Amino acid sequence: MTGGIAAYKSPQLVRRLIERGCEVRVVMSAGAEAFITPLSLQAVSGHPVHCELLDAEAESGMGHIELARWADTVVIAPATAHCLARLAHGFADDLLSTLVLATGARLLLAPAMNQQMWQHPATRANLDILRARGVGIIGPGSGDQACGEVGPGRMTEPEDIADVVTSAAADQSWAGWRVLLTAGPTWEAIDPVRGITNHSSGKMGYALAQAAREAGAEVTLVSGPVALQPPAGVNCIDVRSAEEMLAAVLANVAAADVFIGVAAVADFRPAQKAEHKIKKTPGGDTMTLELVRNPDILATVAALDDAPFTVGFAAETRDTLENARTKRVAKRVDVIAANDVGGSDSAFGSDSNTVTLVHDGEDIVIGPAPKAMVAAEMLRAIDSLIR
Ligand code: C5P
Repeated sequence: MTGGIAAYKSPQLVRRLIERGCEVRVVMSAGAEAFITPLSLQAVSGHPVHCELLDAEAESGMGHIELARWADTVVIAPATAHCLARLAHGFADDLLSTLVLATGARLLLAPAMNQQMWQHPATRANLDILRARGVGIIGPGSGDQACGEVGPGRMTEPEDIADVVTSAAADQSWAGWRVLLTAGPTWEAIDPVRGITNHSSGKMGYALAQAAREAGAEVTLVSGPVALQPPAGVNCIDVRSAEEMLAAVLANVAAADVFIGVAAVADFRPAQKAEHKIKKTPGGDTMTLELVRNPDILATVAALDDAPFTVGFAAETRDTLENARTKRVAKRVDVIAANDVGGSDSAFGSDSNTVTLVHDGEDIVIGPAPKAMVAAEMLRAIDSLIR
């Protein structure tokens, strides 16, 4: 734990982990102790709490090297902006940073900070460094903050952190499988500065790519324009239009065992892309744009002779399940994940989602839950459907 107001939730995280069968040792930074006492964490973990690096008595019991060797997973929750900076640059001036350098265990961070701090270029750069090193970043969520502001930077709820810790630790069931995914929106250019697109954030597709990678798969992600970092260890191919997306998919599909089409692909594109910016004309109060059909990437993949196991999404604003069933038959895919994108709690851009897997057998409902959890659960369901 490092020192943020979210530290008041850390005892709950310890409890949730213990409920799931984990053995937990707590290390607190000096900052964390300003928010909550080691005694509370000792009481919930059932073990003495470790705070000092250069404490002769503590080091003769379980010192930083023993702790580093003992852990299968190191979770820092909350992880402050300062903590991310220190870890990105390899500091080793307290017990927590030293044990992070000394451990070979999987490292997961649950950041928590003011939204401006989270969005600051310095924090973004530190996160890039940590992600590139394979560090797992859980959250943060978005919403009301303790400082009175609203935005990204809330620590992910203890229950959800515990789920990520335990699900990713156990499951390597996709090892040896090659997974190809599409994610995000497409951009269909009208002229050099304008285009047609949609509200897809790419979060669900990226969460599935990350979950597949964590479950041991070799993952290729063909992504439309999004504001997300590719998950560590995933081969990411950036595209813009549906036609570019199809080309990238066809270039990679032969090597795939499973294809998951999560992208919100535009159904139509402008018949012509103007070479120069289209200008207003005097008296021209209306303008007509001719659109032509885009290729259906999912249906194209499903129709291949040697098609991989195919999973599509149906994002609908009404009659979601009926539409998903019709779509599954029309596109001849193995599974359609139906999700409702209408209303104020729309899945588009949100951090959580509910999906219903429509397949040959009975519907499988997953969520509502954070997209990372929905992704892990979806993979488990797809895995058993394939088997
Ligand atoms: O027909 P609809 O767009 O609702 O179908 C959604 C599913 O089909 C998604 O899996 C999406 O990725 C895929 N799709 C596609 N190519 C299109 C349109 C949709 O692959 N042109």
